[in-house]
Amino acid sequence: MKGIILAGGSGTRLYPLTLVTSKQLLPVYDKPMIYYPLSVLMMAGIRDILLVSTPEDTPRFRELLKDGERFGVHLSYVVQERPDGLAQAFLLGESFLGGEASCMVLGDNLFHGDGLTSLLRKALLRAEKDNQATVFGYSVKDPERFGVVEFDSEGRPERIVEKSPHPQSNVAVTGLYFYPAGVSRRARSLRPSARGELEITDLNNLYLQDGRMHVQVFGRGFSWLDTGTMDSLFDASNFVKAVEDHQDRMICCPEEIAFQNGWIEKEVLLASGKAMEKSDYGRYLLKVAKGRDER
Ligand code: G1P
Repeated sequence: MKGIILAGGSGTRLYPLTLVTSKQLLPVYDKPMIYYPLSVLMMAGIRDILLVSTPEDTPRFRELLKDGERFGVHLSYVVQERPDGLAQAFLLGESFLGGEASCMVLGDNLFHGDGLTSLLRKALLRAEKDNQATVFGYSVKDPERFGVVEFDSEGRPERIVEKSPHPQSNVAVTGLYFYPAGVSRRARSLRPSARGELEITDLNNLYLQDGRMHVQVFGRGFSWLDTGTMDSLFDASNFVKAVEDHQDRMICCPEEIAFQNGWIEKEVLLASGKAMEKSDYGRYLLKVAKGRDER
């Protein structure tokens, strides 16, 4: 299974914050936004990851994350020249994917909740072994801002509708998608929508129509936050701060996940911690390396 993080877009809704930097490099409380989707792929057990971003921002991501070695993953980069839609990532990433199953996560989506790892691993197996795609639904107050799942009278997912002014359900499709092998071929059959983009929703509907799409709805104990507007960005920081302060555990710390997965040695974690010792983040890494869980 290969992973893709899509971190493109011009972030116009966050101007002036994003005039000279990428939205996905902005802080969500104590770490860059991109750490959150990166962590989700790592929780799923995915180590071979492609980051897709704009010509201006790709060098900045490369500077921050490098080849991924300190996170125990292998990162590569590809430039999306124009924001021509989320599904374009599968065309840009076709040779990277090499025909394997894949998981794509949007660079501005934040997921947190008990049982996430197990849901991710189930979706991965569904893609690899059963040839089934998975999208994750989440009940929201403002479904018109998202892709929304419409259900038939028996409660079976029927279709996904993108940003409908009158959505038929409040189950939004989150920015986390698993696909079986062959997704690039399917993405190639898509045509640009009315807004000129290759829509991920059109791709998902192809799988739904074939009966090869599982819709996994996250329960109420789960948190999904998107960070595309000033308010949602601010709320996400507050959320992360509240949970981390209370539990004394970080949300989406890639070095910690790498260490737990057995992908990096203690020495690597200690070195990362020491290099950032003056920050809470660095001190947290040192605490994890010294065995905070064994206390
Ligand atoms: C995109 C997708 C939409 C999905 C959302 C999740 O919207 O098109 O279906 O619900 O991500 O964050 P966008 O962020 O491009 O408005």
